[in-house]
Amino acid sequence: MTQPTWDAVDAYFSEQLVGHDPVLEAAAADADAAGLPHIAVAPNQGKLLHLLALTQGARRILEVGTLGGYSAIWLARALPADGTLITLEIDPTHAAVARGNLARAGLEKIAEVRLGRAADSLAALAEEGVEPFDLVFIDADKPSNPEYFRWALRLTRPGSLIVVDNVVRGGAVADAHSTDPAIVATRALHELIAAEPRVTATSVQTVGSKGYDGFTLARVQG
Ligand code: SAH
Ligand code: DHB
Ligand code: MG
Repeated sequence: MTQPTWDAVDAYFSEQLVGHDPVLEAAAADADAAGLPHIAVAPNQGKLLHLLALTQGARRILEVGTLGGYSAIWLARALPADGTLITLEIDPTHAAVARGNLARAGLEKIAEVRLGRAADSLAALAEEGVEPFDLVFIDADKPSNPEYFRWALRLTRPGSLIVVDNVVRGGAVADAHSTDPAIVATRALHELIAAEPRVTATSVQTVGSKGYDGFTLARVQG
């Protein structure tokens, strides 16, 4: 089974269980028109994030890595009307596209795009003493994942869920000799999590329209 099969299965699941969604389709089209890379989560993965946020009963969500706001729309749609999503983005073009997409989705009151290096924005959030987030989705520059995970731990509470995208990368994560900074960092992330008594975690491999990759899920312990 290879990519064409994975694509067909993703298309089938998305057709059955996600369906036609003009707002999300317009968000993807605007990101495309603005020349953003095609690296947003797939529709059925976006819905997984939505379901995880619902399961969390999330009122506050933090996203690291906005791109055009596709995953942010999925996450923010799980929030109550007085909920908050803060999403961090370094690229002004990406942030502008995302703000437009979130506004069209009617989410501008609950979703805020913060422009800047995520490491700086995370430090600023901690400095502001914000309320803890119920869910954190880490999906920006992969070499910084251990750093983002440490910040996520500081910005959450017992019961919060931390999700990290792209932890498999075609299987490269199993290569202890990899010199790819993304893989070295993903392995460092797993070592960090393994040694961290404050979380219980697992990582799962996925195949689909985004190729062969996977997610880490970590629950902050009580
Ligand atoms: N979560 C999005 C995809 C994010 S792609 C979705 O699924 O729809 C990764 C994003 O992280 C890109 O937009 C990139 O510009 C941003 N990024 C990369 N390095 C960053 C950094 N240091 N700080 C903040 N954002 C960063
Ligand atoms: C890339 C980044 C992502 O967040 C993703 O889901 C897929 C690919 C990338 O930078 O190549
Ligand atoms: Mg990703």
